[in-house]
Amino acid sequence: MQHIANLKALSAEDITGILDLGSAIKANPKAYENALHRKSLAMLFQKTSTRTRLSFEVAMTQLGGHGVFIDWQTSNFVLSSIRNESGYVSRNADCIMARLMHHSDLLEIIEGSRVPVINGCCEKFHPCQALTDVLTMREHAGGDVQGKTLCYVGVQNNVSNSLTLICSKLGINLVLATPEVNDNGESRDADVDEIIRTSATVSHTTDPHEGVAAADFVYTDTWIDMQYFNNPKYKDQKEATLARMMPYQLNEAMIGDRDVRIMHDMPIHEGYEISSGLVHDPRSVIFDQAENRLHAQKGLLIWLLGESS
Ligand code: CP
Repeated sequence: MQHIANLKALSAEDITGILDLGSAIKANPKAYENALHRKSLAMLFQKTSTRTRLSFEVAMTQLGGHGVFIDWQTSNFVLSSIRNESGYVSRNADCIMARLMHHSDLLEIIEGSRVPVINGCCEKFHPCQALTDVLTMREHAGGDVQGKTLCYVGVQNNVSNSLTLICSKLGINLVLATPEVNDNGESRDADVDEIIRTSATVSHTTDPHEGVAAADFVYTDTWIDMQYFNNPKYKDQKEATLARMMPYQLNEAMIGDRDVRIMHDMPIHEGYEISSGLVHDPRSVIFDQAENRLHAQKGLLIWLLGESS
């Protein structure tokens, strides 16, 4: 049984197969409307979400199945062990998708579950986002992204970790243009660090202008994890981060008239990691990217749960 904890266990062929399936479903959704007939996805959330919740639930509906939202705080996951509760969930649902604070909780769910478990974003990885991102890049690069260059500008975090994993597997050049000090220590992963240190296609620079100069795609993400952004307890930390990160803002001055596609995984903090103008710039593919959560995840769900899997 395959779990999607991160993308480490998937081969380039696996990833390409999921994305090809996502593209085929997007092109001809009717042909797949019963692909997951009567299958159920338990969708477990410790944290807020717009895209992950909506896209997984709609994906299950459009594939003939059903998504069940479970709010961690109002469930008995707060009272009992994760292993026991997820063991029960997997007796009813065909798959579990979980958005969690800590990757260690995902590993406990996997331990308890007898059905596939998908990471819907934790502090270390966001695999579904990375699949979506490459699907979007393929669409805007005429189908083939091998040898294309993606520059990720901002802080190293769960999103950049998953981009590092997927780009290194698929031969996409990735430039991480981020400060030297990893702002978000909780996202550190030894395998990702090793790829950045040794891979021929993944590199790091502290100079965002240098990174953007060679890019076909530029990408940014929030500088502050969503649960801290509006929390007054983290006001000082937030202000210090914003001051340090402003030179990394994706804006008109940084991008100039370059022929690049602009990406962001959303939610967007306009005026912080990206200027308002670039969000709606003709070169922005941000809303195509967000829509593709639906299509990429349909590919993933059928790859995990469909008849032939
Ligand atoms: N990009 C993303 O995961 O969006 P949500 O937090 O809204 O799910």
